[in-house]
Amino acid sequence: MKADLLITGISQLATATGAGPKRGAEMRAVTVIEHAAIAVASGEVAWVGKASDWTGDAAETVDAGDRAVVPGLVDPHTHAVWAGDRLADFEARATGANYEAILASGGGIRSTIRDTAAASAEELAQLAVPRLEALMRSGATTVEVKSGYGFTVAAELKMLQAVWLAAGMVEARIVPTLLIHIPPVNAVERTEYVARVCEELIPEAARRGLATAMDVFVEREAWSAAEAAQMLDAAQRSGLAVKLHADQFHAIGGVELGVRKGALSVDHLEASGPEQIVAIAASRTIATILPGVSLHLGTPPAPGRKLIDAGAAVAVGTDLNPGSSPLFSAAEALALAVRLNGLAPQEALVAGTVNAACALGLANVGRLEPGCAADFAVLEGGDWRELVYTLGANVAREVWIAGRKVRG
Ligand code: NIG
Ligand code: FE
Repeated sequence: MKADLLITGISQLATATGAGPKRGAEMRAVTVIEHAAIAVASGEVAWVGKASDWTGDAAETVDAGDRAVVPGLVDPHTHAVWAGDRLADFEARATGANYEAILASGGGIRSTIRDTAAASAEELAQLAVPRLEALMRSGATTVEVKSGYGFTVAAELKMLQAVWLAAGMVEARIVPTLLIHIPPVNAVERTEYVARVCEELIPEAARRGLATAMDVFVEREAWSAAEAAQMLDAAQRSGLAVKLHADQFHAIGGVELGVRKGALSVDHLEASGPEQIVAIAASRTIATILPGVSLHLGTPPAPGRKLIDAGAAVAVGTDLNPGSSPLFSAAEALALAVRLNGLAPQEALVAGTVNAACALGLANVGRLEPGCAADFAVLEGGDWRELVYTLGANVAREVWIAGRKVRG
């Protein structure tokens, strides 16, 4: 076999194997190869195995220095494009104010929408780049970024344009999602907005290829499941995949809707109970949990352990955003999922790689197997578990995307 590059000196290569957003035990298996090597050809993994088993020819060899390697992390849920800040909310919450009450009184997400409206797409992209860089330094090689801080068709299209501009300024693979976040306060405007989203925004975003999926925030302070159903239908008619913010504070039908529509993922799930867990487990929809929110808002963690035990495929994301999760590390999200959601280290690795890729509809990232993208992180130490053990320090020494070192 001929390769462009051979990475040797890998103390442990830890990766989930097997493609696809499947539920069940097979998706939780992590293979750890000791004294491993990876061969790369044309930006893809050509071969992985024990270094002593390599018999091919590589144009270049790089020694990882007896360090552990994991697949590039996939962050399946961020709101990395925003303007302004939510420091006043944070301070108010620290002394007793509540996230939902701040939102209901016109602050929170609504204040970020006002600040974001005042910025151009170029300014928004410039603001997003250092956030995406931080995620990359933590080991992320694929990052989903949502719109959603717009209240008009034009504002949402501007946000998607900002996501694309930012994508052109970083090496990470960026996956843009159209998010319909919160409704106008006035009931008439609310109905009109749903119509405009269905008739103008979704078809335009799909026609211009600005997003691959659409997301709706189903919550008491946001959209009802019935309103979301209308918007998901329109998205599916336009060929977009769908996903939902569901059961963050109240289980009001978001999970059931997502499962019924064949959503790629239902995200949050802090308020999900036994019925929602069973519904997700019986489906191919990924359960994306966001422990940064539980930490930052002090709300109950999503039932990660119960979801996995019931047979659901769980992914973990940062939910990087100014209001509910200022978490700039994909690795730390996994570390928190172990502490807060009861995931085992191997389950957290699966959740932050292959399952997260499935939550984005991507089949060729999140695993180190022949035919997958050669996206990986070389860790500081020799044991891959440090990825999910370490808190508050960066454990990704090098980050590689498509067989090219982009950090380190
Ligand atoms: O995923 N809950 C809805 N949306 C975001 C929060 C956005 C914000 O607070 O600015 C979330 O938690
Ligand atoms: Fe979110």
